[in-house]
Amino acid sequence: MNSPMRPPLASIVPENAPFTTEQRLWLNGFFAGLLEGDATALSPQDAAALLPGVQIGGAEADDGANDGAPWHDQTLPLPDRMKLADGRPLQRRMMAAMGQQDCGQCGYNCNDYADAIFHKSEERLNLCIPGGKDTARMLKALYAEIGAAPAVGKASAVAAPVASPATPVGTSRGNPALATFVSRTRLNKPGSHKETWHVEFDLAESGIEYAVGDSFGLYPTNDPALVDALLKALDAPADFPIGGRALRDVLTDGVSLAPAPDMLFQLYSYVTGGERRKKAKALATGEDPDGDAATLDVLAAVEKFSGVRPDPEAFIESLDPLQPRLFSISSSPKVHGSRVSLTVDAVRYDVGKRQRLGVASTFLAGRIAPGDKIRVYVQKSQTFSLPIDPAIPIIMIGPGTGVAPFRAFLYERMATKAPGKNCLFFGHQRRDYDFFYEDEFAGMKAAGVLTQLYLAWSRDDAQKFYVQDRMLQVGRELWTWIAEGAHIYVCGDAQRMAKDVERTLIDIVAQHGARSTNEAVAFVAELKKRGRYQTDVY
Ligand SMILES: Cc1cc2nc3c(=O)[nH]c(=O)nc-3n(C[C@H](O)[C@H](O)[C@H](O)COP(=O)(O)OP(=O)(O)OC[C@H]3O[C@@H](n4cnc5c(N)ncnc54)[C@H](O)[C@@H]3O)c2cc1C
Ligand SMILES: NC(=O)c1ccc[n+]([C@@H]2O[C@H](COP(=O)([O-])OP(=O)(O)OC[C@H]3O[C@@H](n4cnc5c(N)ncnc54)[C@H](OP(=O)(O)O)[C@@H]3O)[C@@H](O)[C@H]2O)c1
Repeated sequence: MNSPMRPPLASIVPENAPFTTEQRLWLNGFFAGLLEGDATALSPQDAAALLPGVQIGGAEADDGANDGAPWHDQTLPLPDRMKLADGRPLQRRMMAAMGQQDCGQCGYNCNDYADAIFHKSEERLNLCIPGGKDTARMLKALYAEIGAAPAVGKASAVAAPVASPATPVGTSRGNPALATFVSRTRLNKPGSHKETWHVEFDLAESGIEYAVGDSFGLYPTNDPALVDALLKALDAPADFPIGGRALRDVLTDGVSLAPAPDMLFQLYSYVTGGERRKKAKALATGEDPDGDAATLDVLAAVEKFSGVRPDPEAFIESLDPLQPRLFSISSSPKVHGSRVSLTVDAVRYDVGKRQRLGVASTFLAGRIAPGDKIRVYVQKSQTFSLPIDPAIPIIMIGPGTGVAPFRAFLYERMATKAPGKNCLFFGHQRRDYDFFYEDEFAGMKAAGVLTQLYLAWSRDDAQKFYVQDRMLQVGRELWTWIAEGAHIYVCGDAQRMAKDVERTLIDIVAQHGARSTNEAVAFVAELKKRGRYQTDVY
């Protein structure tokens, strides 16, 4: 529909607006699409509302060097990412090797971690938690291309991490503060297949401050039963001195007992002989002689080479340091004061007869007690925050633990009396068991803070029904919100959900915004660049 009142497009994107000619042309085309092709018939005022208040230069924007980094898409297997990055500068190929886009757990974003390795200001090649051993191996190979043998960092393997005086206490993984564990409350009802906890810490004595959208980093400790089993398998005394500490203590809080690192197999290749030596050598180079490599955590590796007794000090040296884990903050300091809360899914799975435990999630789910103090830090969000203008509507998509930051956002918008509308898509397995924060969201709906709550239960019916299916059902309404300038947020599983949600959004833009698929892809890419599509995925 055309309106005679509509001003020429040039007046919507003025010459002096802070865009390049190319951007202005693109935006003019973009508005032309909105004004001419869209059945929702936006007024010029609606269209103009798409411009102000957006966080231009948000961290989603890149410097052009990375071209949106398709070769760094975590949903692609590592060999495919490396193929896509082929021919690029070494730093970019190092970035492609990293397991997930800017998860922040290594203390850098991927670009900076790659740069730091390349410029040799960071010698630890094993910091990428999502990428694990595959990433460490690839980084080692790429590092070799700059002509030096890498030293795999061991800084925190024996003692607590060295404080980095450059950052205030509690603001980085290098300089954690102490927080007091307060409580955990199960969010699923009995009968659920999931184990998810609402976890609270008190930050009063830590001096730490946080904002909604930030993540909370914490240093877990290993399961004491696993440490005992390992001491037994090693046939080593618990009080064996390692760098002034007892072996048991170092195994508890100094080293990762998850996937056995290549260095451990290398150690076994030195201290064993014959067929076992060959196997250890093969495992150290990423081969899989017995088809069990993927199942070998440190204990399983020690058991595989049972009877061999490596020197405890050399054994510890061969392991990776125990790294902190990040969790999205699910509280708002404006409502919850010095308390910070997290929404944590406990990782437990069986391999053969032994149950394997996710170190940090099960630490929070069971191994700490109220009053315990643990080392924590706040990882400031560069890319995930509420719009500066409180009147801007927001659409939040967060199945499972992905709901965490949105609980925080909603409390924040409630506390600040933000006039903008709020729409939440939440989903999980079964409504009767896995509806996290149901009462709170009902209260927020009644109070008018939560404008729309859309739910998707994946296992209540024979067919899977996910948040993106619910989005499609209300696609026209979503498009209207987008056209009104809404910011879109996605949080939760990075491997599948986030990608599927983005595809669905593209479909919605194409269908209701009357665009071709290519135009819809460009539209969503532009939303990202302008900080209007933000993700916190893991
Ligand atoms: C920015 C950010 C925010 C996050 N927010 C949250 C949050 O709000 N809530 C939350 O719960 N988590 C969140 N995470 C994830 C969290 O940091 C941890 O990765 C997660 O809790 C698992 O860590 P863990 O130490 O318990 O497990 P780990 O000891 O790291 O073990 C996990 C590993 O175990 C293996 N594994 C897991 N399940 C299986 C299986 N079934 N079969 C075989 N192998 C398996 C996989 O290799 C997996 O990588 C976030 C991550 C990031 C980066
Ligand atoms: N490695 C894996 O295979 C795997 C799988 C799931 C989660 N995770 C990780 O486990 C952690 C916690 O998960 P969580 O407790 O937050 O919940 P979750 O396991 O991510 O599940 C939350 C909801 O999302 C659904 N879901 C599954 N695939 C989806 C998709 N492609 N699109 C949209 N929704 C989808 C789930 O349905 P169904 O469960 O019925 O499919 C469930 O209803 C996260 O770190 C996540 O990344 C890993």
